[in-house]
Amino acid sequence: MQFSEEIGVGLIGFGTIGTGVVRYFQEGRGEPFGVRLKKVADSDLSRPREVEFPGLTERASDVINDPEIQIVVELVGGENPALDFILDSMNLGKSVVTANKAVISRHIKVLFDAARDRDVDLAFEASVGGGIPIIRVLNGYKGDRFSRITGILNGTSNYILSRMEEGMDFEAALEIAQEKGFAEAAHELDTGGFDARDKLAIISSLAFGCAVVPEQIYCEGITGVTPVDLDFAEKHGVDEGGIGYSIRHLATARMVANQLELHVYPALISKDHPLSSVRNEVNAVYWEGELCGPQLFQGKGAGRDATTSAVLSDIFRLAHNLRSGTVDELPLLDRQVQLADVGSLQRRGYVRMGLKHIPGSIAETARIMGEHGFNIEDSVQRRKFRTESEGKAVIPDIVTVEALPYSTVEKAFRDLKESERVCGDPFFLRFES
Ligand code: HSE
Repeated sequence: MQFSEEIGVGLIGFGTIGTGVVRYFQEGRGEPFGVRLKKVADSDLSRPREVEFPGLTERASDVINDPEIQIVVELVGGENPALDFILDSMNLGKSVVTANKAVISRHIKVLFDAARDRDVDLAFEASVGGGIPIIRVLNGYKGDRFSRITGILNGTSNYILSRMEEGMDFEAALEIAQEKGFAEAAHELDTGGFDARDKLAIISSLAFGCAVVPEQIYCEGITGVTPVDLDFAEKHGVDEGGIGYSIRHLATARMVANQLELHVYPALISKDHPLSSVRNEVNAVYWEGELCGPQLFQGKGAGRDATTSAVLSDIFRLAHNLRSGTVDELPLLDRQVQLADVGSLQRRGYVRMGLKHIPGSIAETARIMGEHGFNIEDSVQRRKFRTESEGKAVIPDIVTVEALPYSTVEKAFRDLKESERVCGDPFFLRFES
């Protein structure tokens, strides 16, 4: 196709994803769309990179103020100064593409309103789910509705859990995830659940038409999961004819009577659930539409190329919008909802704790749990995972309990931690229904 005029793109942030964008522009991916990468800015000019960009500048303003640049691509990450780069660009009438979940999740309504006011595009497909076009799907999902959305939204955590299922330890799996470019610079954002929390805020805002802020979301990462848990999951219920469970790091939002329940947590999920077989750095988003039934969207959620594909798709679509004088529709996010108190949500799960191998340990912990109203279904000691503390054997005990509120678990854990028979922190893992 012949274009009378080229669309100019400027990139701010020449890191992992920026390198992907530069490389694929240099390989000619912009040509069929009449789009050219004109300028690249990064605050660190000296960092070694796989590809070079002639005329790299250290000033973001060189990109934002360049009159030949119509689309600014923000790949700096983090909240500031990225937010200013985005707003400054939109104020100058430029369209913006970003992968920045920290900014979009915390400023979604302000940014949508700003884009609408200035009649420019704001595209952020790469902020959630890497290469899965889930933002486009959610923004266009008008013919059906659902009340619950569940995601595996952090590639690093899913990668680590997948490797741990095969026997690798946490640290070794994390190191590989870092080498492969899945993990954030501060990996605690991944393993602590915060990256998934940002992404859940974005997709639940779009799914339910309200503006949710990440800090309002209950959040647990995967750092408490141990090989004992994975071993238990694999075997649980198998002797009763079941097929066992996987452990996945889930992010869920559920709307019940205009109350939105939001949480991010590791969970046991039956092996016959579609999310159970999502492995490695793959992300997934699952819901059950009222009309169309179960829908699963999955694909690589982390890594340079998968995320670059989402950035490029946004750039080329926005170039088309500029030529046709249109912009993507952004939802108003004006629905007023109440956030549910997660402490009162009831979930079935299990308590795993290391017990000193001395008479009365099980009796004492069962008494504490009984006092807090835990109804024990099953209890199993895993001698195979025996350790030592202060010269005494410690054996993990896994106690499956009927559904009870998170707040009750927290209270009981305070008492369990005070018992001299309990070594280390007790851990609660929920069953996903
Ligand atoms: N660090 C993220 C993940 C990728 O592991 O999923 C970027 O969002």
